[in-house]
Amino acid sequence: MSEPILQVRGLVAGYGKKKAVHGIELTLHKGETLLILGHNGAGKTTLMQSIFGLIPPMAGQVRYEGRDITGRNPALNVADGIAFVPQGHGIFASLTVRDNLELGAFVEGDRAKVARHLDDVFSMFPILKERENQIAGTFSGGQKQMLAIGMALMHGPRVLILDEPSIGLAPNLVDRVMKSVAEIKTRFDASIIIVEQNVKYSLPVADRAVVLKTGGIVYEGAPAPLMDHKKLIEFF
Ligand SMILES: Nc1ncnc2c1ncn2[C@@H]1O[C@H](COP(=O)(O)OP(=O)(O)OP(=O)(O)O)[C@@H](O)[C@H]1O
Ligand SMILES: [Mg+2]
Repeated sequence: MSEPILQVRGLVAGYGKKKAVHGIELTLHKGETLLILGHNGAGKTTLMQSIFGLIPPMAGQVRYEGRDITGRNPALNVADGIAFVPQGHGIFASLTVRDNLELGAFVEGDRAKVARHLDDVFSMFPILKERENQIAGTFSGGQKQMLAIGMALMHGPRVLILDEPSIGLAPNLVDRVMKSVAEIKTRFDASIIIVEQNVKYSLPVADRAVVLKTGGIVYEGAPAPLMDHKKLIEFF
């Protein structure tokens, strides 16, 4: 196993006095795609937001490339190579596709790098190139998701966190988005955490899987055993 790029230790997070995740231990290795599964309300988004600094953790630690980044401002995390694609896109609906992508690269000062990332994003999602001047708000759900992922890739992240990218998409688009996750790993050399409820399409792209239940980890290991429906029900 390669060295860890992100480590979560004893993380507790929630809202007011209510804890939504408790004592989470999680490691993302370099070059790995880690899948986080779990029912609605299991704490998946809370965990991702607390890792990314959108919710300050109540306890525990987040380490990135060996440094403590617990509760750090998300803007600093972005500048330092961590990207987060929130559940439900987070695109700028009134701007063009091209402007959205440019905004995704706001922390990147090297224009040659931005141009290279734009080329990569366009070749991964040709629809974004074809419609670069279209207002993003007029996109379909699947197109918006591709744009949101494209934006996150524009600053060349070393860690990419995707929160339920397939939500509300038709099966053929889910398949397309999952294939793009596999492609991101090779093109961008990023380590990926993907939160999903779509087990069928997400398990094949994962190197390792974690199942969250009521704020705690109930399974951590190879994705393959979870392909067995009975096993999955046992953990969910
Ligand atoms: N802003 C909030 N204020 C109060 N409680 C919240 C808030 N957001 C989430 N929660 C609660 O925290 C728990 C975990 O929610 P979270 O959104 O992390 O789950 P999730 O696994 O991402 O679910 P989903 O699959 O539906 O997105 C739930 O009980 C939820 O009701
Ligand atoms: Mg969620």
